[in-house]
Amino acid sequence: MNHPSMAGLQISAPSYVKNARLLAWVAEIAALTQPDQIHWCDGSQEEYDALCQRLVAAGTFKPLNPAKRPGSFLACSDPSDVARVEDRTFICSDKKEDAGPTNNWTAPAEMRVLLQTGDNALFKGAMRGRTMYVVPFSMGPLGSPIAHIGIELSDSPYVAVNMRIMTRMGKAVYDVLGVDGQFVPCVHTVGAPLEAGQKDVTWPCNKTKYIVHYPATREIWSYGSGYGGNALLGKKCFALRIASNMGRDQGWLAEHMLILGVTSPEGKKSHVAAAFPSACGKTNFAMLIPPAALGDWKVTTIGDDIAWIKPVDGQLRAINPEAGYFGVAPGTNFKTNPNCMASLHKDVIFTNVALTDDGDVWWEGMTDELPSHLIDWQGKDWTPETAKGADGKLRPAAHPNARFTVAATNNPALDPEWDNPAGVAIDAFIFGGRRSTTVPLATEARSWVEGVYMAATMGSETTAAAAGQMGVVRRDPFAMLPFTGYNMSDYFQHWLNMGAKLQAEGARLPAIYCVNWFRKGADGKFVWPGYGDNARVMQWMLGRIEGKAGGAENIFGVSPTYGDLNWAGLDFSQAQFDSVIGIDHAAWQQELKLHDELFTQLAYHLPAELVATKQALEQRLAA
Ligand code: OXD
Ligand code: MN
Repeated sequence: MNHPSMAGLQISAPSYVKNARLLAWVAEIAALTQPDQIHWCDGSQEEYDALCQRLVAAGTFKPLNPAKRPGSFLACSDPSDVARVEDRTFICSDKKEDAGPTNNWTAPAEMRVLLQTGDNALFKGAMRGRTMYVVPFSMGPLGSPIAHIGIELSDSPYVAVNMRIMTRMGKAVYDVLGVDGQFVPCVHTVGAPLEAGQKDVTWPCNKTKYIVHYPATREIWSYGSGYGGNALLGKKCFALRIASNMGRDQGWLAEHMLILGVTSPEGKKSHVAAAFPSACGKTNFAMLIPPAALGDWKVTTIGDDIAWIKPVDGQLRAINPEAGYFGVAPGTNFKTNPNCMASLHKDVIFTNVALTDDGDVWWEGMTDELPSHLIDWQGKDWTPETAKGADGKLRPAAHPNARFTVAATNNPALDPEWDNPAGVAIDAFIFGGRRSTTVPLATEARSWVEGVYMAATMGSETTAAAAGQMGVVRRDPFAMLPFTGYNMSDYFQHWLNMGAKLQAEGARLPAIYCVNWFRKGADGKFVWPGYGDNARVMQWMLGRIEGKAGGAENIFGVSPTYGDLNWAGLDFSQAQFDSVIGIDHAAWQQELKLHDELFTQLAYHLPAELVATKQALEQRLAA
């Protein structure tokens, strides 16, 4: 297929690519962005190795010491391109109110002029001097009824290799796609065309950035960033923002949730899905090792970040749409997350961590002892002495949002069902934020609506690294604030509708829990030990579902009493327990004012059931 304005560039699709819409779209995007070449990714090991070598030659990748970290590379980004850019992320629905007050919105026609059709449209010629990679990927097991296909066109080989780890990427996707199958078109450019003879930089990007979603046509257009969720478009852009729209229209859920298998000493296996905002220990929970003293409990990982959940025969069945982990490195160590550390022993792409003198990686929190010398993520020498600022604080050697990209199959605790096309049946949903006060350790919702209320109103205190305003509570409904691709109140309504529909069909709905591992004592220290001990709370939840575990009602729901948790092997007093489970009425009165603020912000289409749930909570509080 040739296009008149393609200056002779043939798209030269391999013969196994037969999807007519795909072929036409690749030609159209090639004509718009004018790459020098097109590379159709087949997903093979040989291709991955060759692309990694290309990245090494370009200076983007440094190979790590094969004796320490076989098959692994370090990439360091431009200092201006280190995280998702929420303020540059747009939901271009036809009507502003359909994007809602929590999303940036521009009218689709206006955005298309800016990106595609205007005289100075950003994508025009944006790939000049570069190769356009055609990256076919399946979000979820190939051919699974819960999975969906995307194709990303990107001028970044870093994106192509990361997508091979993060998704089921390659040739086999075309078999599922067939001649007329559906896919989500994802266009990505770093926005740094090369003129003839111009030397490339190691991390091309543009200071102008746009991460754009068109829900109506299910398109993603990303300009100017090569980093993480801005560029690996299967993850937040497709699997959450576009998929949440698909889920609303088609009757399923796309959620910012990890998925675990939990097997009891008696061999009964349950599955939980849990939503936590950033910086709440989500990866630790996804790879949790229960204390041996609890007996032979096993926790296995199905997913660490995202869940797609569809109703099938009266169950909510979930898959992890991803195939790898793009996790935050700093803070990860052998004490708090041995499974994660073990996952990182080989075949990892590290981004923005520090390089040790023996060709390995390091990040803050990895070891108690500081290395005597490092090359930091910006390529500068770093020693504990020279990195000390005037305030006595050490300049971090790894960027606080430094990442690892690794295949799920590297995880020693990977659940055997992780790749099952049928998914797993969810028994419980867990929602948790970081709150030093107010929210109890664990609470069970008495109904689906109460659970939706808990999730809708959840909040998390910002950490110093994230926001500089330590301890400010940011409301993060369902941990989806930056990821719901439509009006948040309509999203709440969708959850309510899903529950009502399943209930009407006679299904047993998953139980819903709200947790908080982060209550602090008068000394300012965390009271609850967290990490593996969170399994004690999960044991209680699963006991509740089986009707075996007790609990006490409070204004908020049902929480465990001291005697309801298994304390084997843990010295945790009744007084300590009281300080993580108690409901302080004055604090809750303040808390409800914050719920009020949220509901005022989300007033358009806010479900009446949530307003009624809040009123009932206020009445219980006043009684
Ligand atoms: C992530 C995030 O990167 O939630 O997973 O920010
Ligand atoms: Mn996430």
